[in-house]
Amino acid sequence: MCGIVGYIGPKDCVPILLEGLARVEYRGYDSTGIAIVSSGTIKVHKKKGKLREMEATLPKRLFAKIGIGHTRWATHGEPSDANAHPHLDTSGHLALIHNGIIENATELRASLEAQGIVFRSETDTEVLVHLLSLAEPGDLEDRLRAVLALVVGTYGIAVIDANQPDRIVVARNGSPVIIGIGDKEMFVASDVSAIVRHTQQVIHLEDGEMAVVQAGGYRTMAVDPSAGGVVSDPSARMITINWSVGALDKGPYAHFLQKEIHEQPAAVERALRGRIDDRHATAHLGGVTLSAREVLDIRRIKVLGCGSAYYAGMLGAGMLESMTRIPSDAESASEFRYRNPVIERDVLYIAVSQSGETIDTLMAVQEVKRKGGRVLGIVNVVGSTIARECDGIYLHAGPEVSVASTKVFTSTAVAFALLGLYLGRIRDLGPADGKRIIEGLKALPGKLEEALATEEQMAQIAKKYAHTSSMFYIGRGLGYPIALEGAQKLKEVSYVHAEAYQASELKHGPIALVSPDFPTVVVLPDDHLAEKNISSIQQVRARKGPVIAVVQKAITEGLADDLVLVPKSEPELDPIILNLPLQLLAYHAALELGRDVDQPRNLAKSVTVE
Ligand code: G6P
Repeated sequence: MCGIVGYIGPKDCVPILLEGLARVEYRGYDSTGIAIVSSGTIKVHKKKGKLREMEATLPKRLFAKIGIGHTRWATHGEPSDANAHPHLDTSGHLALIHNGIIENATELRASLEAQGIVFRSETDTEVLVHLLSLAEPGDLEDRLRAVLALVVGTYGIAVIDANQPDRIVVARNGSPVIIGIGDKEMFVASDVSAIVRHTQQVIHLEDGEMAVVQAGGYRTMAVDPSAGGVVSDPSARMITINWSVGALDKGPYAHFLQKEIHEQPAAVERALRGRIDDRHATAHLGGVTLSAREVLDIRRIKVLGCGSAYYAGMLGAGMLESMTRIPSDAESASEFRYRNPVIERDVLYIAVSQSGETIDTLMAVQEVKRKGGRVLGIVNVVGSTIARECDGIYLHAGPEVSVASTKVFTSTAVAFALLGLYLGRIRDLGPADGKRIIEGLKALPGKLEEALATEEQMAQIAKKYAHTSSMFYIGRGLGYPIALEGAQKLKEVSYVHAEAYQASELKHGPIALVSPDFPTVVVLPDDHLAEKNISSIQQVRARKGPVIAVVQKAITEGLADDLVLVPKSEPELDPIILNLPLQLLAYHAALELGRDVDQPRNLAKSVTVE
């Protein structure tokens, strides 16, 4: 989704902006642009397509000490050079970039056009820059504030003015804006990835907050002081990003997706670090502030998330229910937020989000909180909006750059296991079971490593099946969310149609589709349902459907066309291991079909607009 980057300081901003934009490419975009102030005038370069296409149009000698850059993901108006940001006012003194959606753009545009303003794009954003040019004279921040008073919608905005080239003014309402603090230089961004090479000290703006960013420092203020919008001391909100060097590089891997699949054992170790209490066979979770008494009062658990976070939440709900005996389920946050949900005081809500910025999940969190409910967050990005909205668990998985989520799915499942341990040990989980799960968690990184050794086999299987038009993924119990996630991965990165079913439901309709060119992937944990899963395989085989079975124990020879063997762990953790070959299958199918593995078409990494 759209990305913002900006620089002000003594250095040449152009390479900093280009590198920053490259770092947010992963979020998904369809055009890019930069605006700089050079020799007292604004120069804009913008283009539809990939960043390198815009870069190729840049003149050789381009130098400036202040500039802003943008990656756009089209909402109002198709991807085109004209619709790309930054947008200029008629005089060409002001340049503005914007993430989010201005809801009253149509009316504002009509009134500007009535005043003779000629629009150059179809975007909602362009109204902002024309309104700014018509605002009462004054400092840029005062003019922006006056404009924002007229605007309804969501925004992360950065604006520069050739007549006041000592500042970038930024504002936030519902779309992330970060200020990066350097030594006599300052950065702005929508995502820490864009600036983390230059500074690790960042401040997240709050909704309703704006800031004047100058080379020597920054000041923040409320967008609407009259509404009692007092902003808290920003320095108290400063956080240090401690990503390891290389976290944003592919290293020896061909793609971020492959790198992140292989990072899973290390990511799990990080998620577990310092959180296991062997003595009491429980977990320590610093961000979970529920007292034992409050835990005893929980009557139900409801997990919310979107996409892979939803599927991880579905797996997590199953794990929690089996470990705590508290009835638990998951629901897509995008549906939940719109159905006027009944919020109950003895229900624990859990929001799952890699980015911590997904608008549907954030809105669901706010809906629960507004109605007096209690929400925990399971979030990867430190300091992100959802993380700041709720107590919870950080995953510490490191940046996930590939659009398709892999390591964060796994880390989320591990976080649920830790939460299950903590809640379960207060409720119904005995110390022996606690210890069993702890031992399982400690051994998990090694077992994931073994599961990753199926890569060559999965590459062969991908070759065999990537050209089919459709596939089934089936599983039952905790294997079902893995089937859903496996099918989602294949769809996302290879564009091969895949559908997940509960194995038990296959015979109630979908089996009609099975034929010799319609393969079925079976997720087969070695559990009490194994025999039932095997009879599903037999049903598929009887209709001559090819079967790829991911198993933890060899099954009858010849029952599956391809048998993928992974190690066994504890029943609560087995699904985590069974998922890895499915990630590898999706990755290699995408390679086989020549897809854009890390930035699949039409997808955005974090969907921050409706
Ligand atoms: C988008 C992405 C998905 C992701 C989902 C939730 O739809 O394309 O891959 O799973 O958002 O993202 P989150 O950052 O909230 O986990």
